[in-house]
Amino acid sequence: MNGNAPPAPDADFTVTTLATRAMEPDSWQAVEEIFFLSAAPRDFATPNERREFLNRWTGYYLECEPENFLLAIEPRGRVAGYLSGCVDSRGAARLYRDIPYFGLFEDYFAAYPAHFHINCHPRFRNRGIGTTLVEAYLERCARDGLPGVHVVTAAAARNVAFYRRCGFDVSATRRWRGEDLMFLAARL
Ligand SMILES: CC(C)(COP(=O)(O)OP(=O)(O)OC[C@H]1O[C@@H](n2cnc3c(N)ncnc32)[C@H](O)[C@@H]1OP(=O)(O)O)[C@@H](O)C(=O)NCCC(=O)NCCS
Repeated sequence: MNGNAPPAPDADFTVTTLATRAMEPDSWQAVEEIFFLSAAPRDFATPNERREFLNRWTGYYLECEPENFLLAIEPRGRVAGYLSGCVDSRGAARLYRDIPYFGLFEDYFAAYPAHFHINCHPRFRNRGIGTTLVEAYLERCARDGLPGVHVVTAAAARNVAFYRRCGFDVSATRRWRGEDLMFLAARL
């Protein structure tokens, strides 16, 4: 994020895509910063390991579906949050390799083919930006004629309530490496 100025009160945010902003070099830098501010804290032994971690969670979405990589832009032009989407989970072979639990809810992929990850900069949370990004993505997927969208999170995470409020009213919980993961889905 550029500068340390606080966000303007009652700011209007616009939603664009990484594909649209591709020529603006600060966009990807801001996404990377938000990713690490939002990821579970962890130490990286080397810069390469840190890069691999980033690439594992964002690489597919950036390289293969930049048109479904939504950015929330605040009035000063800074990226306040992002949603990285994939509209065909079953077809995204690379994600089966990159994301360890990716196949866990595979039996739901036909009914809810699209999925996403979302993170907002801590400074811009609780201002409705996350909801706006999810609504924009659902609209996009509905326009493309997709039957449903899903997201996977930790069953104990605070964001479960956020997704439920966004209309994700189908859920299933499965055990994965000692943790309960929750599949949440919205039919379009
Ligand atoms: C979850 C998140 C994307 C929502 O975006 P947002 O712009 O803050 O959301 P909105 O303002 O539209 O809605 C507010 C709700 O977001 C959720 N939220 C806010 N801060 C959060 C945080 N630090 N961690 C998890 N969820 C949070 C809450 O459900 C909140 O409602 P509540 O205060 O009643 O619990 C954003 O808070 C975030 O980036 N959180 C941390 C990372 C994360 O959990 N990402 C999702 C991984 S699956």
